[in-house]
Amino acid sequence: MTYPIVVYGHPILRKVAEDIEKDHPGLDQLVKDLFETMYHSEGVGLAAPQIGKSIRIFVIDGKPMAEDEPELANFKMAFINAHIVEKSGELKPMNEGCLSIPGLREEVNRESHIRIKFFDQDWNPHDEIYDGYKARIIQHEYDHLDGIMFTDKVNPLRRRLLKSKLMAISKGKFEADYRTILPGQKIK
Ligand code: NI
Repeated sequence: MTYPIVVYGHPILRKVAEDIEKDHPGLDQLVKDLFETMYHSEGVGLAAPQIGKSIRIFVIDGKPMAEDEPELANFKMAFINAHIVEKSGELKPMNEGCLSIPGLREEVNRESHIRIKFFDQDWNPHDEIYDGYKARIIQHEYDHLDGIMFTDKVNPLRRRLLKSKLMAISKGKFEADYRTILPGQKIK
């Protein structure tokens, strides 16, 4: 099933998400639903807090970007209990968007290399190093687990200009081809 996407301004997007146990009820289905919801809303990544669950899971499938970035062609993965243990390399700017902030794209600086520990969908432990676009997408999704939105990382001057746009989005003034939950609406 697909879930509605929680929109900017909802307090659940600001919580630090919790690790889960291996026998977390409905885990397999939840990972499936995260992928399904991500595909349905045409994203390349989706984090559990964005469907109203404050747990440390996100999913990524880079395929839609593979035409421009061939390294992303087979980059499909669920990250469970994800913890970034190292970030390094140059800060590089890149345009980002987020399903929780429909219609808004901004330049964001991020490190080019990361090391991340997590479990995959079959609960195999991983300790991996990523760089380039993979590191970029992972860091965006990972931030959702720590209550951080990409707009927090936009330069301060630009961020001031975004304030009214973000306010409008949090009040439902946007167009999206997927169902959403606005701040103040209950998560079922
Ligand atoms: Ni996002």
